[in-house]
Amino acid sequence: MMQHAHPAPHAPALDAATAEVLDGLHAPRKRLPCKLLYDAAGAQLFERICELDEYYPTRHELALLETHLPEIAARVGPRARVIEPGSGSGRKTQRLLAALARPAVYVPIDVSGEQLEETATELRRAFPGLDVRPLCADYTSLDFAAGPHDEGRTLVFFPGSTIGNFEPDQARAFLARLGQLAGPRATLLLGADANTDPETLVPAYDDREGVTSAFDLNLLAHVNRRFAGTFDLAAFQHRAVWNAARSRVEMHLVSLRRQAVTVAGQRIDFARGEPIVTEHCYKHPPGALAALIAAAGWRVRETFADERGWMRLWLAER
Ligand code: TRP
Repeated sequence: MMQHAHPAPHAPALDAATAEVLDGLHAPRKRLPCKLLYDAAGAQLFERICELDEYYPTRHELALLETHLPEIAARVGPRARVIEPGSGSGRKTQRLLAALARPAVYVPIDVSGEQLEETATELRRAFPGLDVRPLCADYTSLDFAAGPHDEGRTLVFFPGSTIGNFEPDQARAFLARLGQLAGPRATLLLGADANTDPETLVPAYDDREGVTSAFDLNLLAHVNRRFAGTFDLAAFQHRAVWNAARSRVEMHLVSLRRQAVTVAGQRIDFARGEPIVTEHCYKHPPGALAALIAAAGWRVRETFADERGWMRLWLAER
């Protein structure tokens, strides 16, 4: 039986976050919002993922930045304002800011409040002349104004293949929104993975040590804590599936048995083997990503890729 996610007229209205969680769990193909992966524990686990042998995107992207930052910085020019949705640990940002000529403002945006504060403190210390203005927010909504920046260009930094975590239509809308937010003199520096080989992709999202599994399962602990959930973490298993037809890796938490779980007072039934989708990681072929960036109102100026052509940096302007 399908239950309805929306409250009956007499029931108290659910807040938007609870409604989003329940909508996903009541859908025929169950899903949970991937932003819930990044509570304090999740943010730490994700830092460990970035250090794994199997998880190549971080390493490859850092190497590309190392090589091409001088050229990128020359294009951006002095006194830039840098806006970064999903700033995380700020490791890549350190390198970027160090390469730019006297950057003026840095706006990190992240849902993980603790990590955001740490990153801001660290960057203020490392760049005394920089005005750091952290914003604790879900960057997918971006319902704030960045205001004008007259000293230099505005650089939107969006690395880590995070663009692949949006559905393609939403990715286009998001990049367009970033363009509006950044204003007329804007540059976009985006990093995305285009690897489509499941032999290397599946281990990147399901490592030997089980760090990715712990990261994915932690989402259930987060739901338990924030939305009065009763998920038994031992009754679900992480699985990474390459969906070639859609060119994406799918993160699944598979129910190991037939079971019922309560979330925010509502009962959710699971069949044995039934998955919850926690994230899609699209691996757009470069041609498709180029079209997507252009459709969002950006003009690609340059791309930088390594010989393998997996990780690629895209430099675009409005
Ligand atoms: N943006 C990262 C990616 O798509 C996020 C990520 C890495 C991730 N490993 C994960 C998300 C495992 C969920 C589960 O590569």
